[in-house]
Amino acid sequence: MKFIPIRLKLIKPSLKRDFDIYTLENAKPVLLLSRDNPLDEDSPILQYNSNFIAFIPEDQIKSFKAYISKNLDNILNDPKMTKHNKMYAIYISMLGNLEELVNSKNLKLCFKISDDASRFVAHAINDTLAISILLSFIKNDSHNLALHMFNVGVYASILTKKLHDDLSVKKLTEIAKGYFLHDIGMLKIDKTILQKKGKYTEDEFNEIKKHPLLGVEVLRKELKIFSPIIEKIILEHHERRDGSGYPYGKTEINEFARICSMADIFDAITSKRDYKDELPKTTFEALKENKEFFIKEFGRDKYEAFIKCFYIPKNEKHA
Ligand SMILES: [Fe+2]
Ligand SMILES: [Fe+2]
Repeated sequence: MKFIPIRLKLIKPSLKRDFDIYTLENAKPVLLLSRDNPLDEDSPILQYNSNFIAFIPEDQIKSFKAYISKNLDNILNDPKMTKHNKMYAIYISMLGNLEELVNSKNLKLCFKISDDASRFVAHAINDTLAISILLSFIKNDSHNLALHMFNVGVYASILTKKLHDDLSVKKLTEIAKGYFLHDIGMLKIDKTILQKKGKYTEDEFNEIKKHPLLGVEVLRKELKIFSPIIEKIILEHHERRDGSGYPYGKTEINEFARICSMADIFDAITSKRDYKDELPKTTFEALKENKEFFIKEFGRDKYEAFIKCFYIPKNEKHA
């Protein structure tokens, strides 16, 4: 049995749990608290410091993610919770919901993801330290659609805040929801194409190219979300200024779709490319090596603002 590390402080007394908590002693798992035992306020295991890592069995990880998602507001509004743990909770909830959406194709999860996007904007977007903590959780894997949607959502939202500081929280939240759901149309593309390792054939690529239009259809017809700005993000995030993009080959592209596009390309560059047998690029390598392309496609302002998104705030230690 494999064990997955979790932050113990995210487990709160009085909340119902459906997973067991272990610690490791001499590399051996020892049960701290079984799922049937409530965590009491005065439980000795609550005395561990906020960075204490506990473990849960791998086959219970889904229950853990669901627990965090369900109790996210409780965690975020707890004054005793560290910023690091709050950001970790947002990350676990959002990614858990995105993974479930991709695996189950249950579109109802889009509403949970939207709620998480609102919390992300409310609790992180104005806080450079929170953002740098969240960025430190990012993992790249070009074959993981859920991870990709999460990464693009985070990058594009931060970049939007940097470039358009005058946007209202309401507007920024709506735009962020669009970013986290930008590839929702991919759920309608054949799984064998999505999971293919290696280059796409022309026919396969033509299928992939349908995802912006399919995404808008999902948004309107299945989710009944009517938001012109979210539609633009989904529809135009693969358009290019020179008209070489898809689905329409447009040259006038919505500003937020362009920001999404920049984040999308950046995530692709920094993700694993197993068919090329190359190591993924680090943040600054990717930005440096593709400087000319980014400036040509998106302009110097966006390029420079994007670099600034990765600055770690000075004189602030991760809490
Ligand atoms: Fe896309
Ligand atoms: Fe994408």
